[in-house]
Amino acid sequence: MSLKLGDVVPNFTQASSMGEINFYEWAGDSWVVLFSHPADYTPVCTTELGEVARLKPEFEKRNVKVLALSVDSVESHLGWIKDIEEVNNVKVDYPILADEDRKVSTLYDMIHPNSLNNLTVRTVFIIDPQKRLRLTLTYPASTGRNFAEILRVIDSLQLTDNYSVATPVNWQDGQDCVIVPSLSDEEAKQKFPKGFNAVKPYLRLTPQPNK
Ligand code: BEZ
Repeated sequence: MSLKLGDVVPNFTQASSMGEINFYEWAGDSWVVLFSHPADYTPVCTTELGEVARLKPEFEKRNVKVLALSVDSVESHLGWIKDIEEVNNVKVDYPILADEDRKVSTLYDMIHPNSLNNLTVRTVFIIDPQKRLRLTLTYPASTGRNFAEILRVIDSLQLTDNYSVATPVNWQDGQDCVIVPSLSDEEAKQKFPKGFNAVKPYLRLTPQPNK
């Protein structure tokens, strides 16, 4: 059965390019971006894993650990990492799970056989510190993902958790946020000292609270 938003994700232990990982222990109190890609030594994946290495400080600023996965071996990962580092001029200092037995891919439903036989498609799971699933994305093998969008979603989720705001269409960091409908106007006045603009009673905009 596929994982649904809000579910507590299952734990696993699996080999990786940085040694064996027990997922819950490794994640600790951090958010996690767990993402799969089809195979080592493939062109789109080489660009994606390089970009994630480049963005690692942005993930760390947000208390997020990144964890890649493909169904190749540790040995294969270690060889390919050298290529990723050379091509993208980065250091890959995050683990890549070596899911040769497809234990994690099966547990997280990352293999979509009618799209890509026996290999993982491009899935993304954003998991919060309580191990709850907060976002899933599934991309085809032929389309590289936009990791700036993943960071944008993490910012939005953390704003919701910390400040009771949602984010409107195409929102970018620094723009106005939406006050969640569960807050009354009275509560909103207390919570948002910068005030809010009620475009409609149900659509109340307030400056981004943490700016
Ligand atoms: C790639 O990463 O470039 C790729 C992998 C599998 C199918 C198509 C592209």
